[in-house]
Amino acid sequence: MKFNLPNALALLLFVLGGCATNSSSTVYEQLGGASKVSEIVDNFVWEIEYDEQILPYFEGANIDRFKQKLSEQICVVTNGPCEYTGDTMQQVHTGMNITEHHFNRTVDLLINAMNKANVPHPLQNKVLKGLAPTRKDMLYL
Ligand code: HEM
Repeated sequence: MKFNLPNALALLLFVLGGCATNSSSTVYEQLGGASKVSEIVDNFVWEIEYDEQILPYFEGANIDRFKQKLSEQICVVTNGPCEYTGDTMQQVHTGMNITEHHFNRTVDLLINAMNKANVPHPLQNKVLKGLAPTRKDMLYL
């Protein structure tokens, strides 16, 4: 194929434009927005449902509310256009006496949920990084 300057420039602008869009878009947008977050949260609830160790914690929990508030929280930590309207992590998890083991297991279930929703690993890491600061507000309370 012959070298064609206008085409080469157009290609370059296209590639650069793509990079610029990607670096300026939020993690929320890169994930795929509300529908992907809701897929992750639905998968997460299924993971919990089938986990003998974690399910007992959720006995008596309001799952519809959990889904809604967790979706908001994931949206916020990925810089999506949402507001978190739930209770603080400390308020919610106090009295559950969550151990490090059960916390880590729950994070594994969230990773399973993201894998099943085909979230690329670099994006999974960004979601986990966003949620990580909440850890200290949940353990042994
Ligand atoms: C990745 C870490 C976690 C995050 C981001 C998280 C986030 C949340 C959120 C947003 C809610 C709803 C708050 C509200 O209703 O206002 C919630 C509720 C709940 N969480 Fe967590 N959580 C985490 C870890 C855990 C762990 C490790 C357990 C137990 C093993 C747990 C057990 C629960 C239960 C049982 C509820 C429902 C409480 C109820 O409806 O009465 N969470 N969590």
